Amino acid sequence: MTPAERLAELRARVRYYEERYYVRDAPEISDAEFDALMRELLALEAHHPDLVDPDSPTQRVGGRPADGFATVDHLEPMLSLDNAYSATDLRDFHGRVCRGLDVSEDSALAYVAELKIDGLSIALTYEGARLRRGVTRGDGVRGEDVTSNIRVLRSVPLTLKTDAPAMLEVRGEVYFPRAEFARVNEEREKEGEPAFANPRNAAAGTIRTLDSAAVSRRGLRVFVYQTVVPAGAALVSDTHGGVLQTLSDWGLPVEGHWTRCAGVDALIEFCDSWREARHDLPFETDGVVIKLDDMALRARLGATAKFPRWATAFKFPAEQARTRLLRIDVNVGRTGAVTPFAVLEPVRLGGTTVQLATLHNEQEVSRRDIRPGDLVLVEKGGDIIPKVIGPVLDARSAPPPAPWSMPAACPACEQSLARPKDEVVWRCENASCPARLRRGLEHFAARKAMNIEGLGEALVNQLIDASLVRSFSDIYRLTTEQLAALDRMGPKSATNVVAEIEKSKSADVWRVLHALGIRHVGEGAARALAKAFGSVAALRVATVEQIESVGEIGPVVARSVRVFFDEPANASMLDDMAAQGVVMADAHADADSAPRPWAGWTFVLTGTLAGRTRDDAAEAIERLGGKVSGSVSKKSRFVVAGADAGSKLDKARTLGVEVLDEAQFEALILNAADSV
Ligand code: IVH
Repeated sequence: MTPAERLAELRARVRYYEERYYVRDAPEISDAEFDALMRELLALEAHHPDLVDPDSPTQRVGGRPADGFATVDHLEPMLSLDNAYSATDLRDFHGRVCRGLDVSEDSALAYVAELKIDGLSIALTYEGARLRRGVTRGDGVRGEDVTSNIRVLRSVPLTLKTDAPAMLEVRGEVYFPRAEFARVNEEREKEGEPAFANPRNAAAGTIRTLDSAAVSRRGLRVFVYQTVVPAGAALVSDTHGGVLQTLSDWGLPVEGHWTRCAGVDALIEFCDSWREARHDLPFETDGVVIKLDDMALRARLGATAKFPRWATAFKFPAEQARTRLLRIDVNVGRTGAVTPFAVLEPVRLGGTTVQLATLHNEQEVSRRDIRPGDLVLVEKGGDIIPKVIGPVLDARSAPPPAPWSMPAACPACEQSLARPKDEVVWRCENASCPARLRRGLEHFAARKAMNIEGLGEALVNQLIDASLVRSFSDIYRLTTEQLAALDRMGPKSATNVVAEIEKSKSADVWRVLHALGIRHVGEGAARALAKAFGSVAALRVATVEQIESVGEIGPVVARSVRVFFDEPANASMLDDMAAQGVVMADAHADADSAPRPWAGWTFVLTGTLAGRTRDDAAEAIERLGGKVSGSVSKKSRFVVAGADAGSKLDKARTLGVEVLDEAQFEALILNAADSV
């Protein structure tokens, strides 16, 4: 067998197993066996760079972040769907279709009913059976070219199986499988980032991020449900069912529960059958899409400016349940915002047991007249957190329960709560309130802030309960002995935490600014401010106008920064941090004049490093002038291989790229830092 033949065979096999796993949900081999095949393919491609194919399954890891997305016109507009909310609406739709086609309403017209996938629509272009482009819906007429992000989704075939037309557009939905969504949110919480409220927004946000390697880690999938061919070209099939079957035959992912329904009663039955069953699906669905099966009849009906006349979306009603409101508690957030939430008698709702629900703010509670002890109606829409709609007034006890009002004092520090004029949210203004401090410290130490490993929720709670920490700067006074004396803390972990705290003293300025928890200052604003001012000291003396003059910083953020630094308690906390040796200034504030010993070197990171996260390692490399790439090529200067390094390590070896283990990498950093 020639190398080219073996390559073709390996690619076909890898794709076959990818399809079994990502498209059919029916894996045939273990992950280890799959990885072995992939490694063989990579090694062979490395030996024969002339035979590397951009559509090989090895090309899916995601590359360099894009600068932005180009805008692309759709072949034909991506329309939306009219909605139906009840059996009556469905009969009305059927009536309109029948009148349009001039047939009797009793006729058993053939429809196809499909699950409505709760994601974002996407148009995939295949030319010569090869994936050429993936474009978002955008405004329906033109969308964003997100091809680089679509190519990393393994449910999307890079090449179609035989007999696909020369030019084909396939439309479908990118979605977050429930399990992946839960995993991503868990990771975000660990890193101190806000959780996504629902899978649809999370999917939309992900597909529009510029870093395809990050997209690849999210685990998004695709279902397709429509084809568009150029004017004059032959249709894929003369029925919609035929189209779905063909798409599936070509290796594209088609959601498998679609059914042909004859007449409107069968449609209603299909919708009813999914009302409850949908909660057991591995993805979110918010309804059923109903489409006329016969393409010729569709063409006769045509479309309005907004939606086709031959289809409608039946939306499941948001699920509701009744349960007892046991009490209303309040939560004190990091910024001091005090928000009420409902503690409920546990009730099954939308496939899960619900015990807590949001109540937004005090006004909402009184406007809806929600009282502790009431029987209440709880609703779960697309978001993960359910909400209380209101009391069931008929069921209210006599005499009625007393209305609820916001507690006058913070439940954690007992200081009076304040509500700034024109705002609806009550706040605890005490900067050293233990509840605020708890949340604030967790954020302070988080990966995207000071990055103090080991200082997580459990330790924060212990430190506050033992009164060892009353403000951020106190953590820089902690000793190994104090930590070792805490429950579940051995001398070794105490030493590690102290070393981590020590290390954080020289954290980049953006990390400090993010860590402080200034209202409205997230990671992006913190980076912009750090870049513009170079040190916390410089920002502390800047005027609102100066802060606002930084691109990306608006008036609200600028004012909030000023308010933060003007607060005497914050000012003395920062002075204290400085006295404890926290640097709060970037050594190379002016990146252009900073020495760049690694300029021109590209590093590839693979496997897990014991001492640094990926972000951390990448930052170190970039600070020294190097670049980080997602894939190994002859141009790579070093591959840094941590534990469980995978295919990239093999590729480095076959290409003869120098491999560094973690110790060598750290030594190289130290060396470079010394020479600067
Ligand atoms: S067909 C011209 N089928 O729902 C008709 N859409 O609310 C094109 N959607 O924009 C849409 N699942 O993003 C169709 N099985 C399905 C769908 C589906 C989800 C989305 C799609 C559309 C939106 C309309």
